Amino acid sequence: MPAINGDRLWADIVATAGFGGTDKGGVTRLTLTEEDRQVRDWFIAECRSLGCTIEVDRIGNIFATYPGEDPSLPPIAVGSHLDTQPQGGRFDGILGVLAGVELIRTLKETATVLRHGLTVVNWTNEEGSRFSPAMMGSGVFSGASRLEAIEALIDRDGKTVLAALETIGYRGETAVGHVGFAAYVELHIEQGPLLEATATEIGIVTGVQGVRWFDVTITGTEAHAGSTPMAQRDDALVAASEIVLAVRDIARRHAPGVGTTGSAAVGPNSRNVVPGSVQLQIDMRHPFEAGLDQMQAALEQAIGAIDARVALSHIWSKQPVVFDPGIVDAVRASAATLGYSATEVVSGAGHDAAHIAGRCPTAMIFVPSKDGLSHNEAEYSSPEECARGADVLLQTVLQIDLK
Ligand code: GLV
Ligand code: MN
Ligand code: MN
Ligand code: MN
Repeated sequence: MPAINGDRLWADIVATAGFGGTDKGGVTRLTLTEEDRQVRDWFIAECRSLGCTIEVDRIGNIFATYPGEDPSLPPIAVGSHLDTQPQGGRFDGILGVLAGVELIRTLKETATVLRHGLTVVNWTNEEGSRFSPAMMGSGVFSGASRLEAIEALIDRDGKTVLAALETIGYRGETAVGHVGFAAYVELHIEQGPLLEATATEIGIVTGVQGVRWFDVTITGTEAHAGSTPMAQRDDALVAASEIVLAVRDIARRHAPGVGTTGSAAVGPNSRNVVPGSVQLQIDMRHPFEAGLDQMQAALEQAIGAIDARVALSHIWSKQPVVFDPGIVDAVRASAATLGYSATEVVSGAGHDAAHIAGRCPTAMIFVPSKDGLSHNEAEYSSPEECARGADVLLQTVLQIDLK
């Protein structure tokens, strides 16, 4: 039975953490930045040296394909994303891509020839931090978003996705959605506490909870902080604070839903000016669409009850996804073959696999996250945990290849 080389995988995790590495041992590698270009170039060079063909599509998704025996079969795909959050970790996303590279190395050195080709994919902008929405490249690939609409989106500096792709040289030639896959399997860190708390080695991911994103603009009146009486203020930040608390309370009332106000921009953002404007970015998630509907209705009601000028826009959503039972079974059987403890989980975080599930049979594999931390520089999964995940990925691919 071929097995991956855990030391080699770990060396890649350490090496790639240098692209955008932070002083505190994390990574800031926002999508389509210079750091993203560097890690993309590294990934392509590595795959080319293994004998892969490389395709880059119009939205910058990268497909590195190692040939199989039967070119008439669609490839099996694995992968994830190379971008990170600001002050993010060394594992979120890149583990799934590096594990794919390690699978190819293992196939090559053990002279294991698959019937299908094996494609390792880097999806553009999974994180959605610089450009909204998240899971952008897989969203266009799956047909959930239109390429032209996505190309025109702008970051906080007014730069478009199209310009950012061109700046780093990753606006590819290939039409988006060009290829069909036999299956897609994504290895990822759990980003939550469940596996660690139950001392379980592998998460068999059966689906991904739904997400809705909202932008809120609160308009107040800028005024002097010293001379404006408290009773005469129209303070946008005070009103925004009520919304932040409402989001938390709505999530608590709709368990297992979660709600976060992750970004607030205050204008003019000066200590001695009563705030005249605030922009909030809200993220709500729930495993069921009906739960999301209830959370949204509660948010609309809470905002309606606040005595301030507030505009709410629902900017993006992704419905909950249930993964393919056949691929989930292959993950389960692979963990059992390798003797790893495993449990079924629904992903709290969003993943490109949620989009790709609409295109081909899909599932995911999780490995534990220390203290459940992710989107944090302290994010950590041990070399052994990463290696177990990559070995389950390899066995899953071998099983799918037999079908
Ligand atoms: C990004 O990583 C997300 O899950 O929203
Ligand atoms: Mn991720
Ligand atoms: Mn992430
Ligand atoms: Mn994510």
